Amino acid sequence: MFASQLATVFVLAQLVLSQTPVFQYKEWVSIGCQGDSATARALHHLVTGFSANMTVEICLDACAAAGFPLGGLEFGHECFCGNTLLYVYPQRDENCFLPCVGNASELCGGPDGLSLYQFADTPFTTGPPSPVFSYKNWVLWACIDQGPEFPFRPLDPIADDEMSVGKCLDGCAAAGHNAAGLQNGQSCFCNSVVNDGSEQPDGWQSTDNSDCQKPCLDNATETCGGLPQGVGIEGAISAYVTCDFFSNSQC
Ligand SMILES: *[C@@H]1O[C@H](CO)[C@@H](O)[C@H](O)[C@H]1NC(C)=O
Ligand SMILES: *[C@@H]1O[C@H](CO)[C@@H](O)[C@H](O)[C@H]1NC(C)=O
Ligand SMILES: *[C@@H]1O[C@H](CO)[C@@H](O)[C@H](O)[C@H]1NC(C)=O
Repeated sequence: MFASQLATVFVLAQLVLSQTPVFQYKEWVSIGCQGDSATARALHHLVTGFSANMTVEICLDACAAAGFPLGGLEFGHECFCGNTLLYVYPQRDENCFLPCVGNASELCGGPDGLSLYQFADTPFTTGPPSPVFSYKNWVLWACIDQGPEFPFRPLDPIADDEMSVGKCLDGCAAAGHNAAGLQNGQSCFCNSVVNDGSEQPDGWQSTDNSDCQKPCLDNATETCGGLPQGVGIEGAISAYVTCDFFSNSQC
């Protein structure tokens, strides 16, 4: 072996051996290293401003301050928080090997490796999500293409991080509406629709259910619509109506 290769091996060995995973910090406890994906993040809330000095402590303090029960470090300098584990990936200890940029003796995940922490045993839901077909007197009408059909919002705003199907439907009901739509795991829209005999609200165009697969940010077992409209993306909404919309006994 060349000297330079030996040196590389030596440095790598030091890199691997000199970091310790932080198992516990304040009320946070490590729940392992799981995989992650840049296109479907396990935790949705990115903490910014610490990419030059990230440590386990900085990340978990930021997540706790924002009220999140889950926190995780990735790639040596990224910090994510969430109420739920939106996507569950296999445990992948070998992916968490990078030192924290702010403290080289701690581990801060790795490439697609999330060093995950749970606050004070707070329970959390996990994906993958399924559609909620009925809730109180509401029924899921379909996954529909995004259009101009939902001009209203609940009167009491629901924070993105707090979104679930029930909260959106309750919010629209409290605002006096009989139709509701959820999108992107985090947005809630309302409308009042009339039954003109077609049993299809005006302008609603059902689309493939697979377009509405985004987990709700506050309950990852439920789907909260699909992606919003964007370049090359139609946009999809999980659309609900109350039972009294239907003239027959569909619910
Ligand atoms: C980390 O860096 C940020 C931004 O430069 C700074 O505001 C913060 O005080 C630093 N935190 C620590 C613990 O060093
Ligand atoms: C770096 O991390 C180690 C292990 O968690 C800790 O004991 C030490 O106090 C940290 N150093 C600084 C400067 O925060
Ligand atoms: C999450 O959603 C499921 C399905 O709607 C529901 O049964 C469960 O109670 C919800 N969990 C929480 C913590 O809200």
